[in-house]
Amino acid sequence: MIITIDGPAGAGKSSAARALAERLSFHFLDTGAMYRVVALAALRRGIDLQDADSLAQLAHDLQIEVTAASVKLDGQDVTSEIRKGEVTAVIHFIADNPEIRSHLVELQRRIALNGNYVTEGRDQGTVAFPDAECKIFLTASPHERARRRMQDLHDRGEMLSYEDVLSRQNERDARDRAREVGTLIAAEDATHINTDGMGLDEVVGCLEDVCRKQRQSRAAS
Ligand code: DC
Repeated sequence: MIITIDGPAGAGKSSAARALAERLSFHFLDTGAMYRVVALAALRRGIDLQDADSLAQLAHDLQIEVTAASVKLDGQDVTSEIRKGEVTAVIHFIADNPEIRSHLVELQRRIALNGNYVTEGRDQGTVAFPDAECKIFLTASPHERARRRMQDLHDRGEMLSYEDVLSRQNERDARDRAREVGTLIAAEDATHINTDGMGLDEVVGCLEDVCRKQRQSRAAS
């Protein structure tokens, strides 16, 4: 069984998807981490970020391992490094590249053959797993998302102001929504959940409920 959770940055997808997977004893797949690994590798190797072909070649050459516990690039643990500001700043060169997207989607599908998965990203219910049994589109207001993201960054020692975080978030949202392939958009059959003012347990409980209902209605139809 596949449960997809899509939505904009800062909606709380990662924590909720991870907790839901744990509760259901499913595997968890953070697909954003895969894009981040390619971006990190491109920075490390000094690849021209405007050179889409070289970036695509790089993505094919890398060994990417993403599990609930860690993210590895060619066998090296890069779990924390991929979250750094310099990686986030260049991620659109990777996420906008159609060849990289199709390669990573193929990897995601291959990984998901290994069991029951909660997958999280932008295009999981629309492109990667259009036949998923349960699809959720998780959102929150721009203010709430920026506030959470700022807290996250502060916890990791990156002291950005709220205004900076919000303006970067707006840029990323605009890019994610304007992308021609893998656009940030809810699948037609996704259930929308706004997490404003909700704690993690409440969000996870809500996701569980939605999954149960979607499964029942699929079974009945
Ligand atoms: O969820 P995140 O912030 O770790 O994602 C990193 C970037 O990757 C983000 O800018 C959007 C992009 N992304 C994507 O295009 N498709 C996905 N399935 C997951 C992430």
